[in-house]
Amino acid sequence: MKQGIVLQWVSLLSIFALFPLSQTQSFDYGEALSKSLLYFESQRSGRLPHNQRVTWRHHSGLDDGLEQGVDLVGGYYDAGDNVKFGLPMAFTITMLSWGVIEYGKQIEDAGEYNHALEAIKWGTDYFIKAHTHPNVLWAEVGDGSTDHYCWQRPEDMTTSRQAYKVDENHPGSDIAGETAAAMAAAAIVFRKTNPHYSGLLLHHAQQLFEFGDKYRGKYDESIEVVKGHYTSWSGYMDELLWAALWLYKATQKEDYLNYALNNAQSLGGTTWAIKEFSWDVKYAGVQIIASMLLKEERHKQHMQILQQYRSKAEFYMCACLDRNNVANVQRTPGGLLYIRQWNNMQYASNAAFLLTTYSDYLQATHENLTCDKGQVSPQEILSFAKSQVDYILGSNPMAMSYLVGYGPKYPQRVHHRGASIDSYKKKKGFIGCTQGYDSWYGRQGPNPNVLVGALVGGPDGNDGFMDERWNYMQTEACTYNTATLVGVLAKLDRLKGDCMWLNQSLIASS
Ligand SMILES: *[C@@H]1O[C@H](CO)[C@@H](O)[C@H](O)[C@H]1NC(C)=O
Ligand SMILES: *[C@@H]1O[C@H](CO)[C@@H](O)[C@H](O)[C@H]1NC(C)=O
Repeated sequence: MKQGIVLQWVSLLSIFALFPLSQTQSFDYGEALSKSLLYFESQRSGRLPHNQRVTWRHHSGLDDGLEQGVDLVGGYYDAGDNVKFGLPMAFTITMLSWGVIEYGKQIEDAGEYNHALEAIKWGTDYFIKAHTHPNVLWAEVGDGSTDHYCWQRPEDMTTSRQAYKVDENHPGSDIAGETAAAMAAAAIVFRKTNPHYSGLLLHHAQQLFEFGDKYRGKYDESIEVVKGHYTSWSGYMDELLWAALWLYKATQKEDYLNYALNNAQSLGGTTWAIKEFSWDVKYAGVQIIASMLLKEERHKQHMQILQQYRSKAEFYMCACLDRNNVANVQRTPGGLLYIRQWNNMQYASNAAFLLTTYSDYLQATHENLTCDKGQVSPQEILSFAKSQVDYILGSNPMAMSYLVGYGPKYPQRVHHRGASIDSYKKKKGFIGCTQGYDSWYGRQGPNPNVLVGALVGGPDGNDGFMDERWNYMQTEACTYNTATLVGVLAKLDRLKGDCMWLNQSLIASS
């Protein structure tokens, strides 16, 4: 309680002291882009390749799936622990792929194309292994409860590595849908450079969508251990529409489009108006993709339903832009979109991506976004998205970059097992479950390894941030926080210098 008051006082002070200065800051988005892609190497599970650039990590989880007789080596740890959670992992890959689909050219110009594709493939290679039968998907390795009793490097793990699956009798339409979406989106990414692999991904994606659609259920009802960690609060209806639209984009098959049109209402696509987009709730993404189909002449025949999707997409974007009459997204005094206390940064970073993508669409179709409070031009939308990225990179009352390893000041005590303990390469001796808590978790000093490119949970509603390892709501990073940032950073990197209008006039005036 006492600490909370002190923190508010500090952030009030710093708003006046620092914010006017930081508005004129300019950022090296190219450097931030390169760093963001490094982060995915820190989160790798499995046997690390020779070209691994994050050298403080080593092989881990090499027996994953062994007890169940299935090879589940690989994939990503989602955050600061050592569990492989399938739902957020799949969402991470969907969003990384979407970033490459929209901004592949810019990522290529920045010299990061291969790294981006490697980050995607590390996920999709794992999904191929995890999808062992048309109607079986391995959805999790390890469990949150036993993992959280231990503070161990992944290289030392002694926790349970039990694997959990969904199948016909234990359905999981949300995880099947999201994994289908991830593989379909990645299939588009790999179409040119690796057509065989692209075809393989598409094959899996189609089967997974069919499985998820036919055997309906929430995966956390089938896999109880995921509850409290990645419960699917929004259910599976959003993921089914999301998967159908990604499959339509990947195959151009009318069946998938018709699914999204015919089920638009029953699955909530044209009825839900929601202010947040996340690993759990995908409606805004569904609605934005559906809206953008209107760009093509052949989709005009579906105008009526696509317009309904569009009005909900516009609700989301106008809420972010503070242009709805009611129901806007709250902002911190420093201008960051604020949804909730725990890992708020994911919502800001996701919004920046969706807004940037839609701004490009409006630019191409010579349209404005129409909100209750008036028209918003594509430039204004992009300026606002940029303001969120700039906040992340240091233009904020704490003058803190929430992208670890970027800029002069960034979080030193990221809540992350591997990063907070000496590297396995340096200190090969085994570090036990509670020994990690005793010797490393409680230390005052900075983490021995910098988790470069991680986007942490970020500040509270008053722009306050406490850089403490125990403060997991603010100092833990997740793969899906950074995933949506990649494309936006590439876009901003290629814009720099030639856009006078791209300034923070929106923040200043709001
Ligand atoms: C878009 O809105 C701006 C004002 O923000 C206005 O000047 C412009 O004419 C509008 N463009 C279109 C195509 O409606
Ligand atoms: C910022 O953008 C606004 C238009 O949105 C423009 O009028 C203003 O001159 C710009 N300021 C700078 C410093 O570029």
